[in-house]
Amino acid sequence: MRNHWSGRLGFILAAVGSAVGLGNIWKFPFITGMNGGGAFVLIYLIAILACGLPILMAEFTIGRHAQKDVVGSFRELTPKSTFWKNIGWLNLIVSFVILSYYGVVAGWTLDYLAKSLTNSFVGRNPEDIAGMFGALVTNPGEQVIWLTVFMGLCLIAVISGVKKGLERWNKVLMPTLFVILAFMAVYAMTTSGAGAGIKFMLYPDFSKLTANGVLEAIGHSFFTLSLAMGAMITYASYMDKNEPIFPVAVRIVFLDTVVAIVAGLAIFPIVFSVGMEPGAGPGLIFKTLPQVFATIPMGGFLAVLFFILLAFAALSSAISLLEVLTAFMIDEKKMDRKKATALMTVLVYLAGIPSALSYSLLADVKLFNGMEVLDSLDYLASNIGLPVGGLLIAVYTGYILDKKISRAEITEEGKSAIMVFNIWFFTIRYIAPLAVLIVFLTKIGIIKA
Ligand code: PHE
Repeated sequence: MRNHWSGRLGFILAAVGSAVGLGNIWKFPFITGMNGGGAFVLIYLIAILACGLPILMAEFTIGRHAQKDVVGSFRELTPKSTFWKNIGWLNLIVSFVILSYYGVVAGWTLDYLAKSLTNSFVGRNPEDIAGMFGALVTNPGEQVIWLTVFMGLCLIAVISGVKKGLERWNKVLMPTLFVILAFMAVYAMTTSGAGAGIKFMLYPDFSKLTANGVLEAIGHSFFTLSLAMGAMITYASYMDKNEPIFPVAVRIVFLDTVVAIVAGLAIFPIVFSVGMEPGAGPGLIFKTLPQVFATIPMGGFLAVLFFILLAFAALSSAISLLEVLTAFMIDEKKMDRKKATALMTVLVYLAGIPSALSYSLLADVKLFNGMEVLDSLDYLASNIGLPVGGLLIAVYTGYILDKKISRAEITEEGKSAIMVFNIWFFTIRYIAPLAVLIVFLTKIGIIKA
């Protein structure tokens, strides 16, 4: 018998823990900044509704019905098709790549936690604070140490098993993170950059939007909901049969999106009040938020709290990725949980080292489009791996998988309204795959923008 979550709350919390992570607080603000703000945010919201939500429901359907790891799930549901039974592999590979550099960024949050514990921000000026980020990422030793610490934490969390290990972390920490983020957004509204920051985030200026930006928005809608990486399929394989898929998916999407928007509202006012560049890239939150802590009352304490919570958010997302790899080794290679976890952690850790050295020893290595190792992997995984994976899952559930299966899963064997199923089925067949496809073709120049 497969391990199951302890009840409804356990599953939702674990899935929210997977979804809410660095994607919301680190990545969403920096890619919004690099893509010109409001118009990008709008496209992202549309992508969440048109692609993210339906594909999340599709992954729940697949995982719960198959009761297997990501590779095994597709094989179980469509054993006869050589192509489709193998698409789980793509998800597995992308999850490996993403986790490898995710650990590096999570390591940055641990370093910032250490900085807050030693009260390094209070009273410092914006230049000093921005400089700290550069000093951190250009130091190869520190980068590798923090990556090691973070992967070690992941190992401990996953090795103790599904219920005990994953669930417990999220219950208190996620709500607290949200409260403190909201508090910071309120504070940001009192700074001189409030007007400019809010305008930047919410006013859509379409002249700033490129085909590339649209693709990034779609890719990010998958990244932030942990889609196309096997995480939600694997988690749903531990989900109870009588859990209703649609309401659960809506809650997860809602919470995840609110966290991202609030993070943006906390960050952009600060960017403008100190005259920073919104397109500063992956260092954006590390250069802005400590400035809040430097000036507000109790800033030292809040900084500690914030980075602890951010580290936990990163951890609960990372362990869901590690769980994809571990479940694969357990189900497919018949390894025991402890061995599987240890092996995968070590492999991911080794793979993460080049990313950890991206801005120091390997600073001259530009893998893709003039970007460093970490940026290149993030770009390629998020903007090619995830959209292709998402497209395949949409086509899979829309056209390949027996409709009886998805209908039974989404309506809980006919207990809930068929209308939800019908709308979902239409979206997953026509809207989600076409949206991704059109954006792809535009991007590679087959359709002229
Ligand atoms: N969704 C997580 C985030 O937003 C990242 C993640 C991706 C986690 C894929 C699991 C799987 O940070």
